[in-house]
Amino acid sequence: MLSDVRRGLSLRQKELDPKYFYDERGSALFESITELAEYYPTRAERALLISTMPSLIEELQPASLVELGAGSANKTRVIIDAMTTNGTGKQYVPVDVSSDFLAETAAKLRAEYPELRVDPAVGDFSSELDLPQLERPALFAFLGSTIGNFREMAAVHILERVASRMRGDDAFILGVDLRKDPGIIEAAYNDSRGVTADFNLNVLRVLNRELSADFDLSAFNHRAFYDRDRHRIEMHLDSTIDQTVSIPRVGEVVVQKGESIRTELSYKYDRATVASLFEKAGLCLDRWVTGDDEVFGLAIGSRHWVPR
Ligand code: SAH
Ligand code: AVI
Repeated sequence: MLSDVRRGLSLRQKELDPKYFYDERGSALFESITELAEYYPTRAERALLISTMPSLIEELQPASLVELGAGSANKTRVIIDAMTTNGTGKQYVPVDVSSDFLAETAAKLRAEYPELRVDPAVGDFSSELDLPQLERPALFAFLGSTIGNFREMAAVHILERVASRMRGDDAFILGVDLRKDPGIIEAAYNDSRGVTADFNLNVLRVLNRELSADFDLSAFNHRAFYDRDRHRIEMHLDSTIDQTVSIPRVGEVVVQKGESIRTELSYKYDRATVASLFEKAGLCLDRWVTGDDEVFGLAIGSRHWVPR
C-alpha cells in the first residue's frame, strides 16, 4: 500500500488504486450502490444470470465455482442455485482483497448452502491468484464489470492468470458493462443520494487509518464523468482548497485548489473489445449474451489449447 500510494501521489495526475476503497465500510457502501435506482449494472447482470445460468450449468456441469472479487456474492447465488439444482456443485471459492467482508460472505454462504464447501481465498488478483485444490470441472467467474476498473494491459494480465488456472473442461464467465448513452452511465456514478460520493471519499478514510494520513474529507468533492473517446468513467476527488496532506513514510503531499486525485476508471465494453481481451489472454470467446436492451454483457469462454 505504501509503495502504491507513494507512486500514485507523485504522478502529475495524482491517483489511488481503487482496490483501496474496499475496507468493510467501502464494501458495504458498494453494496448500497448496487441498490441505487441509477446504478443499473447490478440489476442488468442479475437478469442475464437468471436467464442464462440454468441451461449453461446443465451444459458445463461445473463441480466448483471460483469467483474473483466476490464481494457479497449476492448475484453469485443465482449461479450457486443452478449448480445445486443441477446436483454438481460441490465447492465455492470466493477471492477478494476485502478480508473481513469475505469472511462474512463465506459464513453466510455456508449457512445457506450446508452441502457446499466454501473455501475463501484472500488475495489481490491483480498480482496473484492463489487458489486451493479445485473440484473439476471448475467455472471461473468475474462479475460486476470489475474488469473495467483495470486498464487494458492489467485486464489482460488478470485474464491470463485465470486462463493459466484453467484445465480441461473448465469455463470462464465475465460480466461487462456495455457502451451506451453517456447520460445513463454518468447518472450511475453521480447518484442523487450521494452514496457514490461517500464510497469515493472512503479511500481517504482508508489511507487515514492504515497509513496515519491526515486527509480532511470535507476538503474534497466527488466528481465522475464519462470519457467518450476512451469509453470509460473517471472518478476523481477534487480538492476545494490549497492543502498539504501529511502521510508518514510517504511525505507531505501538496494538493492545490481544483487539483484532483483520480480514484477509479471504469471501462465500458462492446463485443469486439471483449473478444480482443480474451484473444490476448489466451481465451476463446465461445458465447456472448446480452439482453435485447444491450445494457450489460456476459462473455462465456474457454481456454485456448495449443495443439501438440
Ligand atoms: N462481484 C460483486 C462485487 C463487485 S465490487 C458484484 O458484482 O457486485 C468489486 C469487488 O472486487 C470488491 O469486493 C473488492 O473488494 C474486490 N476487489 C477489487 N479489486 C481487487 C483486487 N485487486 N483483488 C481482489 N479483489 C478485488
Ligand atoms: C466494482 N466496480 C465495477 C464498480 C464500477 O462500476 O466501476 C465500482 C463503482 N464505482 C463507483 N460506483 C461503483
